[in-house]
Amino acid sequence: MTAHAAETPWVGSKGDGGPALRVRGLRSGYGESDVLHGVSLSVEPRTIYAILGKNGMGKTTLLKTIMGFLLPRSGRVELLGYDVTRWPTYRLVRHGVSYVPQEKSIFQDLSVGDNLRLALPKSSDFHSRFEAVAARFPVLKERFQQRAGTLSGGEQKMLLIARALLARPRLLLVDEISEGLQPLMVWRLREILAEERGRTGLTIVLVEQNVDFALALADHYAVLKLGTIVEAGRVSDAGTREAVEQHLVI
Ligand SMILES: Nc1ncnc2c1ncn2[C@@H]1O[C@H](COP(=O)(O)OP(=O)(O)O)[C@@H](O)[C@H]1O
Ligand SMILES: [Mg+2]
Repeated sequence: MTAHAAETPWVGSKGDGGPALRVRGLRSGYGESDVLHGVSLSVEPRTIYAILGKNGMGKTTLLKTIMGFLLPRSGRVELLGYDVTRWPTYRLVRHGVSYVPQEKSIFQDLSVGDNLRLALPKSSDFHSRFEAVAARFPVLKERFQQRAGTLSGGEQKMLLIARALLARPRLLLVDEISEGLQPLMVWRLREILAEERGRTGLTIVLVEQNVDFALALADHYAVLKLGTIVEAGRVSDAGTREAVEQHLVI
């Protein structure tokens, strides 16, 4: 990292400056309508935090506000104790935050390799970083030259995660990665994310509707309902599944 110390005081630190991510009283929305009504949560370094909730509850809005795609109306976003509220997206990305969006954000007509190369500003880093990532995504190595549009749905999700990991993030935000996937592929993604956290000490925030996947992976959870957190705790607490499911059944 060549960032200025004053701008990025946590770079090079061991992450002991506070939670990897803390959101306090975040209000956000579109135009006249408020979607998030004061969301607060705290994610410790090297943990996985699942945000669950039905469609339309504000999960994606929360991630987009954290990522700087939407400006909060009030509240605060902190990384390792430092205020990054209203930082532009590129600056968050440069300082170790990666985002896997819910919508398909792959260039279907470009090759798998070119989709991955676009993740890095400096092409000189690409080969060594790709070799490290490809060990966990052999299919992307095999299909490196093929059009990304020829990949299956699950392989495209792999491509999205691999692209996010090439940036070597310390905080990864993942929006409904399991959506529409076969159980076997969901399980494979679970393994990959768990391994990645174990290997690199990455912090992961998962937005999910798949309760099995989310609870198998996460250490902490919160349930978002109409822009408010109505339930939160440790996944290992007694009664977690019931607490979550009562808000997710139709
Ligand atoms: N671009 C947008 N413009 C206006 N309203 C939006 C927009 N995106 C989402 N919304 C509304 O915000 C609410 C929360 O949406 P969203 O954050 O996408 O929920 P979730 O990800 O939990 O399904 C919904 O009522 C949705 O219709
Ligand atoms: Mg969403």
